[in-house]
Amino acid sequence: MFCTIGIFLLVAKLSEGLVLPRQAASNAPEQIRISLGKDPNSMVIMWTTMQALNNPSTVPQVVYGVNPFYLKSSSNASINKFVYSGGQQYIYTATLQNLTPATRY
Ligand SMILES: *[C@@H]1O[C@H](CO)[C@@H](O)[C@H](O)[C@H]1NC(C)=O
Repeated sequence: MFCTIGIFLLVAKLSEGLVLPRQAASNAPEQIRISLGKDPNSMVIMWTTMQALNNPSTVPQVVYGVNPFYLKSSSNASINKFVYSGGQQYIYTATLQNLTPATRY
C-alpha cells in the first residue's frame, strides 16, 4: 500500500517535471513593458507569449491594486498575433484606468 502510493507520487512528479514546465514556459508572460497611458490616470501594460494560450476562451488580465495582498482591480488585455519571418508572438495589451497619481500599485 505504502509502496504503491510512493510510486504514484513519483510518476506524478516525473510527468510534472517533464511535461508541465515546458508547456508553462511557452505561453508564460515575457518582455513585460509598462508605459504611460493617454491620460495621467492610466498606464499601459504589455507582455508577450511565444505561443497562444492553451484555452482560447481565456481572457488575459492584469490584476492590480494598492495592497499586494489584496489586488482588487483587474483589466482585460487584448491579444494581437504578430507574425514575422522567424516565427510568431502574441502581444497582450491592457490599460489600467482611473489610477490615483503618486500612488504605488
Ligand atoms: C473582462 O473579461 C471578463 C471575462 O470574460 C468579463 O466578464 C468582463 O466583463 C470583462 N471586463 C471588461 C471591462 O470588459
